Amino acid sequence: MSSRTRRTIIIDTDPGQDDAVAILFALAASDRLDVRAITAVAGNVPLNLTAKNARIVLGWANRTDIPVYAGCPRPLVREPVTAEHVHGETGLDGVPLQEADVELANGHAVDFLIKALRSAGPASITLCLLGPMTNLAAALVQEPDIRPGISEVVLMGGGYHVSGNVTPAAEFNVYADPEAAAVVFGSGIPMVVLPLDVTHQVLSTKERITRLENIGNRAGKLIAAILRAHGLIEIEQMGTDGGPLHDPTVIAYLLQPSLFCGRMVNVTVETRGEFTVGETVVDWRGVTERPPNALWLNQVDSNGFYELLTETVKRLP
Ligand code: BDR
Ligand code: CA
Repeated sequence: MSSRTRRTIIIDTDPGQDDAVAILFALAASDRLDVRAITAVAGNVPLNLTAKNARIVLGWANRTDIPVYAGCPRPLVREPVTAEHVHGETGLDGVPLQEADVELANGHAVDFLIKALRSAGPASITLCLLGPMTNLAAALVQEPDIRPGISEVVLMGGGYHVSGNVTPAAEFNVYADPEAAAVVFGSGIPMVVLPLDVTHQVLSTKERITRLENIGNRAGKLIAAILRAHGLIEIEQMGTDGGPLHDPTVIAYLLQPSLFCGRMVNVTVETRGEFTVGETVVDWRGVTERPPNALWLNQVDSNGFYELLTETVKRLP
């Protein structure tokens, strides 16, 4: 698909500080991205909060016309894992929160996905997964015939060149529901992966945050406040000048894929290891016979990324 085409996307997400930035980024690019709906999933914080936060973020962009569906309140098999120590008790540490202006849309996110994909033209909807992959996995298990409606899945998750951020082996979105990730990676749907390998190259330095704040609009100020409160654990762990920025890389890829480089590889998900549950096993060197199932991105032009983010967010109120 040409990068200039206006894509119809559904954002499946667990906001989450960086999810909130990603949603604003996508809304700011409304000439290129038609956000059909947001489907919330349990992840960084429980489902009631992710579903609420998604609606709050839409309010920040004056886009409460976009429906938010609440999805799965827990992983397919395992006990829930959350990340309040990263994103705060509300999920959106760094900014004061009000109540959401709009109600949730009626119905379950999985039912919405099934209905939307069934009635879609062939390969017409791009799914952006920014959290644990429970909703899509549940939809695929329930109704495998929805696959033709999906153009591709573009997701933030996993790590290969950069190892895990929850365990030494696993990245949060995959670790939180490895069985769901295994279903999605095994689905045969075209996939693009923005792993830690990439997100750890786009550091939110003080200077980059200040540029976003200096845009002068509400969105820039909110993003700056969120980013100042985000990635603090990683800054301490890695001794870097800023924290990694994860989920907005999915939106940047949709808008300007030339910012990224990667390789078609086979990716499987470890679901049984003693120490490695949730690891993305990436056949980077092609040492197995397993066919490639994903475009795994491992390089990004980080200055270009922040330039794109800052220029795009200028369009928001
Ligand atoms: C991912 O985990 C979450 O905490 C972030 O929102 C991002 O989606 C990074 O590992
Ligand atoms: Ca997320």
